[in-house]
Order: sequence, then C-alpha cells, then structure tokens
Amino acid sequence: MVRASIKIKELSADEAEARLDELAYVLKDAVESGASVSFLLPFTIEMGRAFWRKVITAVHDDAAVLLGAILRGKLVGTVQLRLDTPANQQHRGEVVKLLVHRQARGKGVGRALMQELEKSARSRGRVLLVLDTHEGSPASGLYRSLGFACAGTVPGYAQLPLGGVGDTSVYYKDLRPVVPRPTKAKPTTRASTRPSGSAKKVARKRPTR
Ligand SMILES: CC(C)(COP(=O)(O)OP(=O)(O)OC[C@H]1O[C@@H](n2cnc3c(N)ncnc32)[C@H](O)[C@@H]1OP(=O)(O)O)[C@@H](O)C(=O)NCCC(=O)NCCS
Repeated sequence: MVRASIKIKELSADEAEARLDELAYVLKDAVESGASVSFLLPFTIEMGRAFWRKVITAVHDDAAVLLGAILRGKLVGTVQLRLDTPANQQHRGEVVKLLVHRQARGKGVGRALMQELEKSARSRGRVLLVLDTHEGSPASGLYRSLGFACAGTVPGYAQLPLGGVGDTSVYYKDLRPVVPRPTKAKPTTRASTRPSGSAKKVARKRPTR
C-alpha cells in the first residue's frame, strides 16, 4: 500500500531549492536518530540547509544526481549519486546520504531509492557503485541485500552522534550485466582432442542424421 504510493523523483536544482527545508529536516532526523552521516549533535536546521545548498550547487553543475522519495506530496527520503569522480574513474559513481525519515522507515522507501539510483547510474554509464557506511547499521543490511559486496572495514572510523565510535565498511557493486562463460564442449570423438581448429573441421564433416 505505502510502497505503491512512494514516488521516487530526480530533483533538479530548483526543485531541491524548493524542498530545502524538507531535505534539512530529513538530515536532522537522521543525525538525531544516531545515524553515522558525517554530523554530530547538536544539529540545527540551518546546518542542514547549509549542507543541502552545497549539494544543490553540485546538482546544478551536473556533479551529483539527487533523488527524493515523495510520500503524499512530502519528501520523506533522499539519496545522491555523486558524479564528480576523477578523469580515470568516469565509469564509477559514489552513493551518498541515503536517508529516510524515521516516520517513513521500514516501508520500502530506502530500497526504492537505491533501485532508482542504480537505474540512474546505468543510464549515465556509471557501472561501478561505491559507498561507505557504518558497519552493522540497517543500511549495511540493505546494501548487502541489494548485491553490494563489502571490500573491507576500518575500525573506529567515525564518531557517532549518540556517543562512541563506529566501524565503517566500504561497499561496491558492479552494475555490468553478467556474461555467462562459454561451457566447454564434451569430447565425443578422438578428433575432439585435437587443437580446436581441427576438431571443428571434423565436427562439421559429420553426416547429419
Ligand atoms: C538505512 C535506511 C535508509 C533504510 O531505509 P528504510 O526505508 O527503512 O529501508 P527499507 O524499508 O527499504 O528496508 C530495506 C532493507 O533495509 C534493511 N533494514 C531496514 N531497516 C532495518 C532495521 N531496522 N534493522 C535491520 N535491517 C533493516 C533490511 O535489509 C530491509 O530489507 P527487508 O525489508 O527486505 O528486510 C534508514 O534506516 C535510514 O535512513 N537510516 C539512517 C540514515 C543512514 O544510516 N543512512 C545510511 C548512510 S550510508
């Protein structure tokens, strides 16, 4: 029911500006929930606005794609695909700030945002996704369930808003389609043990039944 009514939308710089306060509230809620998303408490709406203004500039400069999850007209979640990678990594995109407001969690919003982000990355030729996240958080379970692999964990990487220090893992996902390996032909005749060129010739000469 809720899943069906979630709309995932790519926000232009102007649309993001119009939703600046909603974005700031979603970020503030995440920090207050204890999520490891770069900030500590106390965290104000003005700090949130300042963060999103930088993101809006990146969207304007085509350095980031910003997705918003809209539920009954209200922004309840967001994620970004950063495109500002070095010249030799233009096939790669970075997933940052996947956030869902606590009131909307557990309803498929995070998964829907990530699925749309993957589509968006593919359409831009970004076939390798990379991200880092607090190990053991709900987010790490979501990324694993979406097929992301863990490259490794750095212990004590970041301070947590509610106290303590958390480990951070780097995850990646290769979006290229898997090409099945050719299966080896079963040796059926003595000829088939010859180098492949000769074996093919013999096979082609076989009479059809
Ligand atoms: C991580 C987050 C975005 C998930 O959003 P969500 O809308 O609640 O996620 P979904 O309902 O789509 O759930 C998707 C999957 O996430 C995992 N998940 C979600 N909530 C979970 C929880 N409380 N505990 C464990 N796993 C959880 C599950 O694998 C779930 O799949 P399932 O429903 O098939 O079991 C949300 O919890 C959040 O905003 N957290 C704070 C910010 C944060 O940590 N962001 C990540 C920064 S890298």
